[in-house]
Amino acid sequence: MHSGLEYKEQNLHFGGQSLQQIAALQETPFYIYNSQSILSNIEAWQAASDPDRHHICYAVKANSNLAILQIMARQGLGADIVSGGELLRCLQAGIPANRIVYSGVGKTAAEIALALEAGILLFSVESRQELEQINECARRAGVLAAISMRVNPDVDAATHPYISTGLTENKFGIHHDQALAVFQMANRLEHVRISGIGFHIGSQLTSLDGFAAAAQKVRELIPQIESECRLELEWIDCGGGLGIQYNAEEPPAPADYMKLMDQILGIPGKQLAFEPGRHLVGNAGLLVSRVLYTKENGDRRFIICDAAMNDLIRPALYQGYHAVYPVTEHGDPASWNKADLVGPVCESGDFIARQRPLPNLQAGDLVAIHSTGAYGFVMASNYNSRMRAAELLITPEGDLHLARRRETYADLIRGEQLL
Ligand code: LLP
Repeated sequence: MHSGLEYKEQNLHFGGQSLQQIAALQETPFYIYNSQSILSNIEAWQAASDPDRHHICYAVKANSNLAILQIMARQGLGADIVSGGELLRCLQAGIPANRIVYSGVGKTAAEIALALEAGILLFSVESRQELEQINECARRAGVLAAISMRVNPDVDAATHPYISTGLTENKFGIHHDQALAVFQMANRLEHVRISGIGFHIGSQLTSLDGFAAAAQKVRELIPQIESECRLELEWIDCGGGLGIQYNAEEPPAPADYMKLMDQILGIPGKQLAFEPGRHLVGNAGLLVSRVLYTKENGDRRFIICDAAMNDLIRPALYQGYHAVYPVTEHGDPASWNKADLVGPVCESGDFIARQRPLPNLQAGDLVAIHSTGAYGFVMASNYNSRMRAAELLITPEGDLHLARRRETYADLIRGEQLL
């Protein structure tokens, strides 16, 4: 059983709260996050870091709820953002602009202008054309834009192909063969200041090998760049990607990962940025759903619940595994038979778990879908005109906080106009 969960009198509790009781008050499906678990994840990174040299910039894309961002802000974390929307959320939650790094291959001129106005720490540049755009936006704003070049090291991260980002075939970063030339180009631009170099090779990495190979390639580029461009890089951005345990994975601990990065890239005088997303929040969240019906097609057993691919797309998109716990204890898991836990969306790809040993659940029973704190709600949609779920947060004090109410029909049609 994942940590933070326990059965008390046969009722599943999360962060000390009875899910049965919460579901009596809150319409399902809903997400619920546990602050304590987020705080202990943050602590694992902070305990292993030297605050004068290591900077943890939470990857907002993993879970951008304002209350979650507030927790990050209060713990002194910076942020890694990928859009103007994420920037505004961070500022609203109290993350200082000068601790924000901005990644992504398609920053628009309007987004760049917004980030310059806010005064972010640096832009992670992903192409020559983007570099020119940043230079132009900075010229117009009358400021100097601090940039870091994101290098694509052509390293296999050994993860699902859709979340691998450090290979030549991926759209991300500047190919390592071209990195020096792009640094030289940046050096000639008047309105940018070269501040660093970075990489990010993928997400849900469960081995240190890919990180080491990428860091090594970047390490080799640094002296070349510094001598050819006659400058000193101040920042090295190690990206995110540290995996979590969904099923039987055994991902490295933050301390081991940081130690490795320090061994390869800990150059005196340079600051290291880390951008964990999933690791900080993934295992701190559940999606709670209620069974609507059960049925059998031949020998296939289906359990139809009220959460669907619009609420959690990871199983459909990446064959993602999420542990499913019955909220009321149902005997020995060894006695369970296989079933498909599916949602109401009209797609055969709409499943939460496929051919998974599950108890004899009946209509009205609740299930808790684990490890959904990262890339869960943030990837939710209104497909099939389904309202997006509520997000609850168990606060550090142990209170239940409605971090986002469930959508209503009015939310669903907001912005639309009849002919
Ligand atoms: N930094 C950069 C530049 C990134 O592109 C990402 C994730 C991160 C940091 C954070 O990575 P993390 O520590 O969370 O692995 N939706 C997918 C994951 C997409 C990750 C995209 N980039 C999923 O559900 O698995």
